[in-house]
Amino acid sequence: MNVKTLNFRPILYLLFTVIGGSQSKELARKIASKLDCKYVDSQITIFPDGESKITLPETPTGTVVVVQTTYPHADTNMIRTLALIAKAKKTASRVIAVIPYLCYMRQDMEFLSGEIVTSKMVAKLLGATGAAKIITVDIHSNLAVNYFDVPLVNTSAVPKMAGYFRKLDLKSPMIISPDLFWSKKAKQFAEILGAEQIALNKQRDRKTGKLKILHQKNLDLSGRDVVLIDDMISTGNSMILAARYAKSCYCRRIFAVCTHPLLVDNAEKRLMDADIDKIISSNTIENKTNQVDVSDIIAQSIE
Ligand code: R5P
Repeated sequence: MNVKTLNFRPILYLLFTVIGGSQSKELARKIASKLDCKYVDSQITIFPDGESKITLPETPTGTVVVVQTTYPHADTNMIRTLALIAKAKKTASRVIAVIPYLCYMRQDMEFLSGEIVTSKMVAKLLGATGAAKIITVDIHSNLAVNYFDVPLVNTSAVPKMAGYFRKLDLKSPMIISPDLFWSKKAKQFAEILGAEQIALNKQRDRKTGKLKILHQKNLDLSGRDVVLIDDMISTGNSMILAARYAKSCYCRRIFAVCTHPLLVDNAEKRLMDADIDKIISSNTIENKTNQVDVSDIIAQSIE
């Protein structure tokens, strides 16, 4: 059902309740408002040893939508997500889990011998909660999608992020993805803007984590704006590498855009120091970089 096209309150949503998890309250409220349904705030206290104690002030019934992103921090919020879904499942007729940023999806294969494919375990845990459906945004791994037994809806922030950039007065923009992995999405982003696009060939040393860009011929980007795009910015190292490349091509301004702004430690400052003019993200993780609201995209997948 397309929420956007509805101009009356669907009876269906009268029976819905949206629960806001600790990291996603703002987004959850927006989703509830888009669905025009009830919103319930989860409450949390943290024990001295770091354990979370979560309380729901009322018993949820009908279809319950649990909204909880899994950062910061990944492990803690994965447990909170599992707990919220399990709790809702006890009294609800159906639980839909909205996990805007779904952590652990980078660990989708045994890259080095002995590594655990943790995304598989996370998929199993989420399936075991009894959720009827999981909705996420720009999941990192297409491979990991296959690990889920429960239906998984992978929405995307890319068209809306491109819409945001359409309103900016960009000068002959060049869209650059720091690695080949997101080049398809970067292409989609570029097509919406009617811009050129390239993907760099970023390689990561699996042991040291060190990054480098392989064989990239220098372009002449003088006077042109560059938009660096990736699914997430974690340490910022990938974007910094790409920004260095763009600078070496004499570009004008540099924007960094991502769906998930993890922005670990002082990533934001490091990106600014690397001559990135502005960081733009969606609101899958709350941050002051949030310029693109995905609540409507998520609401449209809830039925
Ligand atoms: C990797 O495959 C991802 O798409 C991102 O490029 C990466 O996770 C970003 O991490 P960082 O900001 O630490 O370079």
